[in-house]
Amino acid sequence: MSRCVLSALVAVITFILPVQAMDNGLALTPTMGWLHWERFMCNTDCDTDPHNCISEKLYMEMADVMVKDGWKEAGYEYVCIDDCWPSRERDPKGRLQADPKRFPGGIKKLADYMHSKGLKLGIYADVGTETCAGYPGSLGHYDTDAETFAQWGVDLLKFDGCNMPNWTLLAGGYINMSIALNKTGRSILYSCEWPLYEWQFHQPNYTAIQQTCNHWRNFADVYDSWSSVKTILDWTADHQNFIVPVAGPGGWNDPDMLVIGNFGLSRDQQETQMALWAIMAAPLLMSNDLRAIDSQSRQLLQNRHIIAINQDPLGKQGTRKVKVNGFEVWERPLSNGRQALAVTNRQEIGGPRNFPLILAILLTWKSCIPQCNVTQILPQYRELGVQVLFTKLQLPVNPTGTALLVISPATGKPCSKQQSKKWLRYLSKDKRQREVL
Ligand code: GLA
Repeated sequence: MSRCVLSALVAVITFILPVQAMDNGLALTPTMGWLHWERFMCNTDCDTDPHNCISEKLYMEMADVMVKDGWKEAGYEYVCIDDCWPSRERDPKGRLQADPKRFPGGIKKLADYMHSKGLKLGIYADVGTETCAGYPGSLGHYDTDAETFAQWGVDLLKFDGCNMPNWTLLAGGYINMSIALNKTGRSILYSCEWPLYEWQFHQPNYTAIQQTCNHWRNFADVYDSWSSVKTILDWTADHQNFIVPVAGPGGWNDPDMLVIGNFGLSRDQQETQMALWAIMAAPLLMSNDLRAIDSQSRQLLQNRHIIAINQDPLGKQGTRKVKVNGFEVWERPLSNGRQALAVTNRQEIGGPRNFPLILAILLTWKSCIPQCNVTQILPQYRELGVQVLFTKLQLPVNPTGTALLVISPATGKPCSKQQSKKWLRYLSKDKRQREVL
């Protein structure tokens, strides 16, 4: 088989039909920004904790730091309010209003502030009668609330799914809010939790979800712990056949916030979260205190190589390919025939273990005909140089840590006769044999 025939075969195999997603022109790559929930939760006590309570001051300070400390430059753009911002009562015209004590300037002032800094503002509401924390919900007010958010100049809506009188109303509620947002004429990115609230009753209709939302939460809230991050990764891998095919420019699976820079994850676990969120083409919404973040976490969150994987224009979500000997191997196809590869050491005992990476046994083999360039991004940046298909690389990975690589096709000499023979032998083995090689 000639190299040209092989290349043609590869081109056919990798041909992928475009996905039809929410078409408001937003989220062509996964959303990047900051969201208050995991770190600041429903802290409304501005009397005793003015520095951390949910108030306009918190978002303005976060925005200042985002501009000053390189976050905006790295791509983080949305500053997002979560639950607990409104008054307990709607105004006399039935509109949501911000708590006047904690947001004396109102949401419009906050949106103007963000825009003056080249940032965007996100807000939170709920499809049901009340938010998860018991503030007024939007049920029966979708048009009014969408209009209010548009008038304030809001750029993103996180729409939660608590307190819907009946789960069968969820789909209609989410779709109606999407229609209401579109009617306002303002571009408002629509972040849903629709599938998360439906999974407990039935398998959600991902086609409808993807046509309605710019991203959607599938699974439980992230906590500041390794066990939480692990459960999210396991859930995603276990459901990848349903959820990965629908992801693409305009619509993404949302495994929830990045908790890097907080208290619960070790250095290695933070790297695993960052690497795998990039492989999963996940929105990168940090929930941490950017005003007081350590420099290692900052460097990790601002790592331009990892962000480039996350934001890759091909927009294909990666998947877990192999679970072997306490390692997991995840792959994500990237533009220009490149691949991102993450190897996580899931063994929580012992020290660093070597993963023997043979390029030929992974899906990445396509990038290595006739040869490829291998770059390691995590835990350290290293150029591993030009490799061929049968190279075996030893990758040391710490417990709960991840080695992240990018594999790019490299031009080279056409295959020699000997190489072609090796190829034919390899290709003639059945797929199962190849997997265990
Ligand atoms: C739910 C959501 C969280 C957060 C809280 C707020 O639990 O999943 O992300 O928005 O509600 O109450």
